[in-house]
Amino acid sequence: MNITVLGIGYVGLVTGTCLAEIGNDVVCFDVDREKIDLLGSGRTPFHERDLPELVARNVGFARLRFTTDVAEAVHHGDVIFIATGTPADQDGSADLQYVLAAAHSIGEHMQGEKIVVQKSTVPVGTADKVRMAIAEELQKRKGAGDPVAARLPATPIAVVSNPEFLKEGAAVDDFMRPDRIVIGTEPGPAGERARALMGQLYAPFNRQRDRILHMDVGSAEFTKYAANAMLATRISFMNELANLAGELGVDIEQVRKGIGADPRIGYGFLYAGVGYGGSCFPKDVQALVHTAAGHGQRLRILEAVRAVNDAQKHVLVDKIVGRFGADLRDRTFALWGLSFKPNTDDMREAPSRVMVKALVERGAEVVAYDPIAMPEARRVLPQDLGANVAAASRVRYADSPMQAVRGADALVVMTEWKAFKSPNFAALKGALKQAVIFDGRNLYDPAIRGQGFEYFAIGR
Ligand SMILES: NC(=O)c1ccc[n+]([C@@H]2O[C@H](COP(=O)([O-])OP(=O)(O)OC[C@H]3O[C@@H](n4cnc5c(N)ncnc54)[C@H](O)[C@@H]3O)[C@@H](O)[C@H]2O)c1
Repeated sequence: MNITVLGIGYVGLVTGTCLAEIGNDVVCFDVDREKIDLLGSGRTPFHERDLPELVARNVGFARLRFTTDVAEAVHHGDVIFIATGTPADQDGSADLQYVLAAAHSIGEHMQGEKIVVQKSTVPVGTADKVRMAIAEELQKRKGAGDPVAARLPATPIAVVSNPEFLKEGAAVDDFMRPDRIVIGTEPGPAGERARALMGQLYAPFNRQRDRILHMDVGSAEFTKYAANAMLATRISFMNELANLAGELGVDIEQVRKGIGADPRIGYGFLYAGVGYGGSCFPKDVQALVHTAAGHGQRLRILEAVRAVNDAQKHVLVDKIVGRFGADLRDRTFALWGLSFKPNTDDMREAPSRVMVKALVERGAEVVAYDPIAMPEARRVLPQDLGANVAAASRVRYADSPMQAVRGADALVVMTEWKAFKSPNFAALKGALKQAVIFDGRNLYDPAIRGQGFEYFAIGR
């Protein structure tokens, strides 16, 4: 099938590449020329396991191409995926400007019937806005006497909602082996045709068992928000209980295992820590709360989920201040982990950003190490610190975890990278100025207190 992907961030690039891998002919377009140039030179713009090899292979087979020519891209695909970002707008709603800009591009350049697939996470009703944006452009073209636009049938597009559930860090695997494929189509013949074509497109991912869930467009759009809201709720629930567990002298890790064993609860997304980050949970929870407000409703659980998460990003800072005092001048902290979770270099809404800012603004030096995210950190951390050049200059980067801790007053663990899970504690103790660990991911056994460490964790 001829496929076009508009917007090649984490979702668009993985979608386009995986669809090429199973034999489709895929053209990817992005407004970011640098990204296209980078891909053209054989490099991928972000870290994602298995993706560079897959991109190279499919480019090599000429099944995957990258272009900055939007007309060529729109012309190519019978099926056009929109995978642009939907960041939070100032009022917390999903900012649809990039999605709608992509829709306008489709209307401006389409020369035949298209199936437009909405991959971005968007509020209920967005499919209609996409359809209207395309229709508006077609109308303009007809008005200007464009013969191609005039020849198009009355309903030249079907808009499908196909939200994406991949996880950064395991994105290729998630796309190739999905738990479920949600496809929302509209009623009527155009929707029926789209439903059949999407079934064909996803058939290779659907062989072992039927993973496709067909539903109406609005329900599909809503499913994505409901999924992220549920996962975020589990995390905030555990974080809130962890803070109480800490006060009660209870170990939240034991409690996690105790409740996770119940199949009605399950183990997933129950780890207590320094709060969730990333490009999805924070903005999606906020957007759903905003949608509800627009309908005169309050989503009180999700309001609390968000408030708990915002507070949780400061819990470890408070422990550090509790131990060392509010004036951290002449203190150095080793920071292990910068990305919002392991196996990605994504630092959007990462708890480490709150930590770094809090430490350097109190006068501390920070020596950070992350296996992948340091280039991204060098880009975003100075932005966080804005005009505070002095504070920004107090952030340094180490070449290894051990180099980061040498001479530091304490180790602060922010991301649960595998490389941090089983350090040589004797060497760690020798390298640190003081044997103090603030573990924001509960990686270590509290029994290390018996080895002379002052160990601060979340709810343990
Ligand atoms: N990142 C994830 O893990 C993930 C998972 C599931 C769903 N989602 C959703 O998928 C969507 C995309 O997320 P992402 O993380 O891939 O975003 P991203 O910010 O990494 O990428 C978006 C891309 O769209 C491009 N773009 C903007 N306007 C454009 C236009 N008019 N035409 C073509 N390209 C344009 C940008 O230049 C950018 O490269 C969001 O709605 C997000 O909520 C993300």
